[in-house]
Amino acid sequence: MVGKSILRKLGSSELELSPLGLGCWQFSNGQGMVGKFWPVLKKEDVCSIVHTSLKGGINWFDTAEVYGKGLSEQMLAEALREAGTLAEGAHIATKWWPLLRTASSITSTIDERIRLLENRTIQLHQVHQPFSFSSVRSEMTAMAELVKLGKIKHVGVSNFSADKMLEADRVLREQGLRLISNQVKYSLLDRRIEHNGILDTAKKLGIAVIAYSPLEQGILSGKFHKNPALVKAIKGPRKWASAFRESGLQKSKPLIEKLDEMAAKYDVSPTQIALNWLIHANGETVFAIPGASKVHHAEENVKAMQFMLTNADMQQISDVSNLVLKK
Ligand SMILES: NC(=O)c1ccc[n+]([C@@H]2O[C@H](COP(=O)([O-])OP(=O)(O)OC[C@H]3O[C@@H](n4cnc5c(N)ncnc54)[C@H](OP(=O)(O)O)[C@@H]3O)[C@@H](O)[C@H]2O)c1
Repeated sequence: MVGKSILRKLGSSELELSPLGLGCWQFSNGQGMVGKFWPVLKKEDVCSIVHTSLKGGINWFDTAEVYGKGLSEQMLAEALREAGTLAEGAHIATKWWPLLRTASSITSTIDERIRLLENRTIQLHQVHQPFSFSSVRSEMTAMAELVKLGKIKHVGVSNFSADKMLEADRVLREQGLRLISNQVKYSLLDRRIEHNGILDTAKKLGIAVIAYSPLEQGILSGKFHKNPALVKAIKGPRKWASAFRESGLQKSKPLIEKLDEMAAKYDVSPTQIALNWLIHANGETVFAIPGASKVHHAEENVKAMQFMLTNADMQQISDVSNLVLKK
């Protein structure tokens, strides 16, 4: 277990979380709108991934209604149950899917979330993205009602712009609550939040940033650069993304070389360097939720919490990342 001292508060809440959580999109079982993105995992692999994460000091898990139409929530709950006492104190973040819906479905779907999660407390309920038939005000009002009813503990959003974050926080404050987090894409190969106001707004308001796709969906491991045949073997739509094409791999190569160099220096892996950078580059604002499709990914990724890069090395990594992103 990682010592308590490594835990940090999620935004302005009292919730103490490990800087890394486990992303559970990978537990979609090939089902639903976004489930085909990842291969189907066996139940025992899901259990091992969750067990390994808990043992490595991860104390929270990010899932969503849309991941396998609730299957990810269900598989996570089963894995936590199988982990027994190791899972005592594990926290859950889930998300409501807003597309083509109104805020009333936040209220009407919460009991299903609680049922699939086997009555475990939902510490953080997030609006998955900003596109909805309802306003931010209606969504936050519905979320605040769930807090008051004791169905969830805290409210977060995902993929919200700086302005929408401000609006969500304003509405929640009227209800005596605060916006706790914004879950957004952030990695050494995607630093848009550093320039579009999201990171600055989060820091100013004391809102946590939860970085999704922190390994750029596997690219930052360097395995696709070293063995491009792996791209062809990908089952889901990732292989069509520009970062996975030959030109994309060529573009990110200098960053992979820098991560390899640092990995050798610290006797860790490139993913550990990439994740370590992400959770330390902005004080305690940024948490990251790498997903794992194999047990050894979880084994490797959790160890990113066990060392510190020097400031000079953080800067070198940042410089190379910025050079690559400018290309
Ligand atoms: N809020 C949102 O809109 C949103 C969007 C996306 C994701 N998310 C959340 O963020 C989590 C993580 O994002 P993500 O899954 O998109 O990307 P990611 O965490 O950057 O990449 C995960 C994938 O990278 C590969 N990988 C992981 N660790 C590795 C290692 N140590 N060595 C080699 N390969 C490794 C695995 O895929 P392969 O083995 O197949 O290569 C794994 O499935 C999701 O699970 C989900 O909870 C949220």
